[in-house]
Amino acid sequence: MKDAVTTVMEQCDRLADISEEPGLIHRPYGSKAMHEVNDIVAGWMRTAGMTTRRDQIGNLIGRYEGRGEKTFILGSHLDTVRDAGRYDGILGVMVAIACVQRLHDRGERLPYSIEVVGFADEEGLRFGTSYLGSSAYAGSFDRERLLLEDRNGVTLREAVRSFGGNPDAVERDGRSDEGLLGYCEVHIEQGPVLEKEDLPVGVVTTINGQSRIQVAFVGKAEHAGTVPMEGRRDALCAAAEFVLEAEAAAKAQPDAVGTVGEIQALPGAANVVPGEAKLSLDLRHPNDVEREGLRDRLEERAGEIAASRGCERLWEVRQETNAVSADEELSAVLAQAVEEEGLKAHRLPSGAGHDAAQMAAILPVAMLFVRCEEGISHNPAESVTREDVEVAVGVMQRFLGLLGGVHAIEEEAGQ
Ligand code: GLV
Ligand code: MN
Ligand code: MN
Repeated sequence: MKDAVTTVMEQCDRLADISEEPGLIHRPYGSKAMHEVNDIVAGWMRTAGMTTRRDQIGNLIGRYEGRGEKTFILGSHLDTVRDAGRYDGILGVMVAIACVQRLHDRGERLPYSIEVVGFADEEGLRFGTSYLGSSAYAGSFDRERLLLEDRNGVTLREAVRSFGGNPDAVERDGRSDEGLLGYCEVHIEQGPVLEKEDLPVGVVTTINGQSRIQVAFVGKAEHAGTVPMEGRRDALCAAAEFVLEAEAAAKAQPDAVGTVGEIQALPGAANVVPGEAKLSLDLRHPNDVEREGLRDRLEERAGEIAASRGCERLWEVRQETNAVSADEELSAVLAQAVEEEGLKAHRLPSGAGHDAAQMAAILPVAMLFVRCEEGISHNPAESVTREDVEVAVGVMQRFLGLLGGVHAIEEEAGQ
């Protein structure tokens, strides 16, 4: 029989082949590639002794029955950015399945059930707002979001339906904390800290808040050959000025990051002055008030830039997620598991967003980061070692065992 780590690495490789585009990894929400991945991962969950189901938004949920009433949740996301690496999100789901597989192979039942969730959308690329999967699971899905359109004018309502769900029932899937013990997510670090510390894993303290905004500048499309430079209302020039403004504003604010990752000029022809330019703006900060201040200043600057160029500015906030702290008690159990594996339990914050940030609304959450090469992520060069994944599997097994002990003692005390 194959060892757990070989299986995890092979599974990550196998899913890397399933993409909307040949030659690169791209699995947006609701795509055919996501359908296929959900089917394959459901098969692996069943092999590990779980029953499987999907909810309306398309989260894949595997359940391994335990001896008690309560349930602990493990998971991460199965969607990807465009031209992604093979571990962001995926690794957490595969490590969770490996832990359950080991219990199943030994015929072992814990004092609680385990649910492994493969969230359907964390990256938020298609609809400009992340956490569609985990917000639905955690009961904070806002039905207004169903009206959002992707680049091709397809609404989220239509996308949920064609992904096999009922858009009007998404909210009903939301869970409360009833019967749930907590949530733990394994994820690659996506930063350089663990490599610098020479440690394979670390325990997360906080997850930065984020704002995602769709910005548009509307000017006038005109003939590029005949209209003099003076008096043009070039929307792309306004957008270009704004991009540099966003960079400068984020640089000037300690701990802030700001990114324009997407830009589109319309109508998009070499000989037409751009009449409209659309761009995405992503702002992050560990402090919500600071992030909101940055957002408001940039909104104002976008308006000034637009006015100075005879353009209009559209500003649509698609997402506001506050910074979240991991649960201290659950993180202490995770840190104990790391130490019992003979390692230092290094604590570190997360600049990236994670499904745990949504799950924290209903449950205590903890996260285990796994070192990745040079901290590279959202890039096909994303890389983890077998040895580090082996440590992560070991820590998670120990963590589940410790949790069983804690939970059994709590149950006894409650009887
Ligand atoms: C998810 O990877 C994010 O932080 O954007
Ligand atoms: Mn991720
Ligand atoms: Mn990501």
